[in-house]
Amino acid sequence: MSMQGSMGRRSSADSVCSLLMLILISAVCPVAPSQETGPSPLQCSVSPNRRFDCVPEKCVSKEECEARGCCYSPAGDKGNIGQPWCFFPPSYPSYKMFNLTQTDRGYNATLKRSVGTFMPHDIMTLQLEVLFETESRLHFTIKDPAKKRYEVPIPTPQVSGKASSTLFDVQFSCDPFGLIIRRKSSGLILLNTTVAPLIFADQFLQISTSLPSGYLYGLGEHLTALNLSLQWNRLTFWNRDLRPSKDSNLYGSHPFYLSMEEGGQSHGVFLLNSNAMDVLLQEAPALTWRTTGGILDFYVFLGPEPKSVIRQYQDIIGYPFMPPYWSLGFHLCRWGYSTSNCTRQVVKNMRDAKIPLLFSLQDVQWNDIDYMDAMRDFTYDQNRFGDFPEMVKEFHQQGVKYIMILDPAISSSNTPGSYPPYDDGLKRGVFITDDEGKPLVGKVWPGLTVFPDFTMPETFSWWYDMVKLFHDQVPFDGIWIDMNEPSNFVQGSVDGCPNNELENPPYVPGVVGGSLRSTTICASSQQHLSSHYNLHNLYGLSEAVATHYALVKILKKRPFIISRSTFASHGHYAGHWTGDVVSSWEQIYYSVPAILLFNMFGVPMVGADICGFGGNTTEELCVRWSQLGAFYPFMRNHNDHDSVSQEPYVFSSEAQKAIKSALLIRYTLLPYLYTLFHKAHSSGETVARALFIEFPTDPNTWTIDRQYLWGEALLITPVLEQGKTTVNAYFPTGTWYAPESGTGIQSKGQWLMLPAPLDKINVHIRGGYILPAQVPGMNTEESRKNKLLLVVALTPDGVARGDLFWDDGVSLGTFERQDYTHVVFLAANNILLNELIRVNSQADGLKLGMVNVYGVPSPPKKVLINGIASEDYSYTLDTKVLIIKSLSLPIGQQFVITWTL
Ligand SMILES: *[C@@H]1O[C@H](CO)[C@@H](O)[C@H](O)[C@H]1NC(C)=O
Ligand SMILES: *[C@@H]1O[C@H](CO)[C@@H](O)[C@H](O)[C@H]1NC(C)=O
Ligand SMILES: *[C@@H]1O[C@H](CO)[C@@H](O)[C@H](O)[C@H]1NC(C)=O
Ligand SMILES: *[C@@H]1O[C@H](CO)[C@@H](O)[C@H](O)[C@H]1NC(C)=O
Ligand SMILES: *[C@@H]1O[C@H](CO)[C@@H](O)[C@H](O)[C@H]1NC(C)=O
Ligand SMILES: *[C@@H]1O[C@H](CO)[C@@H](O)[C@H](O)[C@H]1NC(C)=O
Repeated sequence: MSMQGSMGRRSSADSVCSLLMLILISAVCPVAPSQETGPSPLQCSVSPNRRFDCVPEKCVSKEECEARGCCYSPAGDKGNIGQPWCFFPPSYPSYKMFNLTQTDRGYNATLKRSVGTFMPHDIMTLQLEVLFETESRLHFTIKDPAKKRYEVPIPTPQVSGKASSTLFDVQFSCDPFGLIIRRKSSGLILLNTTVAPLIFADQFLQISTSLPSGYLYGLGEHLTALNLSLQWNRLTFWNRDLRPSKDSNLYGSHPFYLSMEEGGQSHGVFLLNSNAMDVLLQEAPALTWRTTGGILDFYVFLGPEPKSVIRQYQDIIGYPFMPPYWSLGFHLCRWGYSTSNCTRQVVKNMRDAKIPLLFSLQDVQWNDIDYMDAMRDFTYDQNRFGDFPEMVKEFHQQGVKYIMILDPAISSSNTPGSYPPYDDGLKRGVFITDDEGKPLVGKVWPGLTVFPDFTMPETFSWWYDMVKLFHDQVPFDGIWIDMNEPSNFVQGSVDGCPNNELENPPYVPGVVGGSLRSTTICASSQQHLSSHYNLHNLYGLSEAVATHYALVKILKKRPFIISRSTFASHGHYAGHWTGDVVSSWEQIYYSVPAILLFNMFGVPMVGADICGFGGNTTEELCVRWSQLGAFYPFMRNHNDHDSVSQEPYVFSSEAQKAIKSALLIRYTLLPYLYTLFHKAHSSGETVARALFIEFPTDPNTWTIDRQYLWGEALLITPVLEQGKTTVNAYFPTGTWYAPESGTGIQSKGQWLMLPAPLDKINVHIRGGYILPAQVPGMNTEESRKNKLLLVVALTPDGVARGDLFWDDGVSLGTFERQDYTHVVFLAANNILLNELIRVNSQADGLKLGMVNVYGVPSPPKKVLINGIASEDYSYTLDTKVLIIKSLSLPIGQQFVITWTL
């Protein structure tokens, strides 16, 4: 029933397809089961793992199931939780495909169903469009040709024409309709949507596909391991304010997955749809997308390397923003810094805690809602924070940056004229409205509130005006946007929600609370672009875009925004923290896959609250979490108001020393980390990287989520369990150097038990790489002025390479304007040299001061710096480390360093 879609070999596929169908309908295709026929004529011998749920919206009896034309078979009791009892027979009526035609971009076809489904408002005729956008990217949409439906308003590339050659081919099944996508090189079927009927009703769209393997990643935001469970796993997308818990919809939605194929190739799939959604995974292996609105708008990325899949995904959603250099430092926050003086004291304590390591660790101080007057945005409390502007200016004088929280909800119960953000917003009509066209009123921290509609252009300028007025008083450096799912303390609104189809859809995905209005606003409330029902999952993103816009205009520098709620493309505008995690050993572990997955979603600026937010931390947990957090791309310690204190300085000197030595490694490696962020920004790379992304041909790495990499070259192995002083580490094939000693481990791809006393986090540098580093100063700003250090980790063949991206660290668009320095470092044949790709004035002051070479097999007879012999070097025979000191080589000029063996 399927036919080859390569039109080159068939001149008129449409007629062939129709012809085939005519023959096959009568010969093979079963007709729709009639109501009277019981289960016996149905082919119900479907193996349990391949059953697709025929009554997703409720529980039914055998009779009700069979009345639907479906098969009924209660699951046994062994590990079958979630297995559908009532499932589609292969003959269940689906769409048939007609008039498949070749277009100049791919294919078009008409899909028609003659029998309706169990869902109201089936759309009986659909338009399929298949676009061969690039060699590695297939795009297909299924829409209602008669009526324009809601589509996600994020900008995506528009491609005219058709890729001349592709890594995939597409086959169609005419009856039932199905799309089969195959990797040409291996013949592997990546998708086959014929496995279950397509349903396309107004508020229920469902398409299932086979998967080529059980190794699946993505589909966030959920509290999961890195590789997703396929044991009847339901992942729900409906952004929600909820302490991260298993099997729950959380703050963000990223309907994208990456699947590993045998041999280490991989592909990805993105469903560009923002409606409330379930994704169901089963061990067949198979996947079902079940969404409650919009259209089916799929992108398939052929990779074949995982890195390529992730880049190809970001070609659609946008590459990450380039963060300011200072944002890579240590951030400190707590709900409960209740006065400006208390906040000052925190910064002072951090500075005073320089002993035992003589550098202050803090770059950024934050405040939670404490600073606000009656918890209202764009105000500050005159008693507790009367000198708020002065406080921020003092921090700046001390080299500390400042960020405060903003919530989207605007207090609406003030005396008229007393609170401009509301009065002005009301006048400008920027708030989301209820079914009567009045601003919808909910309840958040300040009491009664209304919710800005960030899909409206006027809201952008209103938000800009508010942020600008506030910044004129309080010169903050970045903004933390919270509660933007949006969170609401009442269900829907203070007046409840109307009773209509948007509020009570025929199918409600597996949302916590059982209803779309749970902890948020009414689904049927109205926004400029569409209903909240359609736009809900975009609320945090739209606020991030508006905030980004405002900050660019106000600061004229790179904005730094951290948001709780996210949607695909968020990373282009802002970062993310993983929300209100509790202080537990379970959560410290889950933070690792969370950070790795957000890097795959194109949100590399991500971290969890170090030491945990809710509940009381312990010294041991906080030390371990700080060590891990030193390797989050975004490093912030944040705490709840009613928990025990957890700033680094409250712990024993032993604990402080352990925390600081991890921070010292981070600060030393900032030039490397910054270069990784540049690569994320310029080419869609990940910063914190899962091992399988870097070593896809080594299946041992495919499920590792207790270790990860920074880029290609730094392996991080934290302790994530209580009481442990050793850690089991996997070393992919190659040489791995411990930076403390410079000694190398040769691995053939093996697990090793490493000592991990409380004062140590294991990190290893990969042979073949050169890491740019810098001796830390008081903070990132001071560090930037110090001399560079190159860590050269040689392979057994004596080669290594690395690079440095450098600019002023704050200006907008330095990469786009080509106002930066990019230097490549190469080592081979006992020579280290730099290659100047681009040099600007930022490189002027930057000098190479020291080189550490790991893996030098024998003592050098001499060391030459630009041809001149140097005595200022040392070599250690047992570790094979060569250290060349007292250098002063401008990084923007060519140098050659040689060591003769
Ligand atoms: C297929 O195309 C023909 C010619 O345009 C048209 O008459 C027919 O209705 C189409 N079939 C379907 C199912 O849309
Ligand atoms: C294919 O379908 C799309 C709508 O899905 C339509 O816009 C386009 O014009 C069609 N192309 C051709 C060549 O019929
Ligand atoms: C696609 O799936 C259908 C239904 O399971 C199956 O009959 C068909 O053989 C599959 N197609 C291919 C090319 O494997
Ligand atoms: C990840 O894959 C491994 C190996 O197949 C498996 O044991 C593990 O259960 C998977 N993780 C989850 C959450 O299912
Ligand atoms: C902060 O402390 C200073 C010095 O003790 C005091 O003068 C000032 O009033 C305090 N500010 C606030 C807002 O409490
Ligand atoms: C945290 O510690 C404080 C002080 O010891 C105690 O009052 C509080 O109950 C603890 N909280 C929890 C959640 O255990």
